[in-house]
Amino acid sequence: MKKHIAVVPGDGIGPEIVKEAIKVLDCIAEKYDHEFTYTHVIAGGCAIDQFGKSLPEESLQQCLNSDSVLLGAVGGPKWDDVDPSIRPEKALLGIRKELGLYANLRPAKIFPQLADASPLRQDIVAKGIDFMVVRELIGGVYFGEKKTEEINGELVASDHMNYAEHEIRRIAHTAFQTARKRHHKVISVDKANVLDTSRLWRKVVHEVAKEYPDVEVADMLVDNTAMQIVKNPAQFDVVVTENMFGDILSDEASMITGSIGLIPSASLGDSKRGMYEPIHGSAPDIAGQNIANPIGTILAAGMMLKYAFDLDTEYAQIEKAVEDVLADGYRTADIMEDGKKHLSCSEMGDKIVEYLNKA
Ligand code: NAD
Ligand code: IPM
Ligand code: MN
Repeated sequence: MKKHIAVVPGDGIGPEIVKEAIKVLDCIAEKYDHEFTYTHVIAGGCAIDQFGKSLPEESLQQCLNSDSVLLGAVGGPKWDDVDPSIRPEKALLGIRKELGLYANLRPAKIFPQLADASPLRQDIVAKGIDFMVVRELIGGVYFGEKKTEEINGELVASDHMNYAEHEIRRIAHTAFQTARKRHHKVISVDKANVLDTSRLWRKVVHEVAKEYPDVEVADMLVDNTAMQIVKNPAQFDVVVTENMFGDILSDEASMITGSIGLIPSASLGDSKRGMYEPIHGSAPDIAGQNIANPIGTILAAGMMLKYAFDLDTEYAQIEKAVEDVLADGYRTADIMEDGKKHLSCSEMGDKIVEYLNKA
């Protein structure tokens, strides 16, 4: 199979972790006789430095012209004070919006080998952590009108949050279809006791639910959900929610699996071309030290093989190599424990490739 991948390393640890994911993709290509070609796309803070904007038109075109996009992370303190209209994060939001990637799948699944790395009590971990956050990605407060104005002698800022029925309907379909491939259970998360957007969300989700009588559906308020994720994560199968709630809950969900560095994500729309990235950010506090955990990005590359290219076997091989490496006691700094073998970011990439080659 021949595929062309737009690679957006971005900022901070982005280039370090993406390099390891490419090693893995190259290994898979050789082993299974595929041809993956890459275009290096400049977006994020590094693009502001070079071109004065975070998502130059050419970079967007390179993503649009690809079969799939692999992204590291964008942003960092260096660009905290730039004009909000050109912030590094705008590049990410721009790619998501322009590619129509409305559904963001973020698995929260604990590797049994990492049970001890979870900050949760072991009796809670033992019940299992394996759910999928289905986050709406191109609507809500992220994309509504924003302004800061002076009213009565003081600054007043506002971010408008809106959802149209069609935006809720399509993400609800994604959630129910995802549940059909899992344990047939959807929890829809909102703040319907306060927000109009949430009341509409609830109404539309239940309309869509009628088309999936085989899937159980229930509503949960977002504050309660944040609590339930640490109290009893085993109750969740698919969690569907709006953009900002999904952003926050998925970071929380990632940590109970041991580290945010472990979790991949797939951003999907109606076409096959999606974007694949870890859920974490550019981790400026550890950038340039070769100590980041590349597993989230490597698994994101794996999700790309599965979702964009239908290469299920290759995806399974990557997941198995990661599991075996962890089972043999190899750890990066974020999941390091006594008695385990400590690896740098690049050594973890090499180790996963080594295990893939001997599989
Ligand atoms: P972050 O996710 O970058 O880091 C939070 C903490 O997790 C840090 O202590 C970091 O060292 C650690 N961490 C993250 N990824 C790790 C990994 N792979 N291995 C080991 N440790 C890891 O969040 P933040 O510090 O709030 O944000 C930093 C910058 O990243 C901000 O500019 C933010 O806007 C941006 N950001 C970008 C993305 C993205 O590009 N997808 C996502 C989130 C945040
Ligand atoms: C993420 C990030 C982004 C988001 C930021 C960087 C715009 O936190 O991908 O989770 O909020 O979607
Ligand atoms: Mn986030």
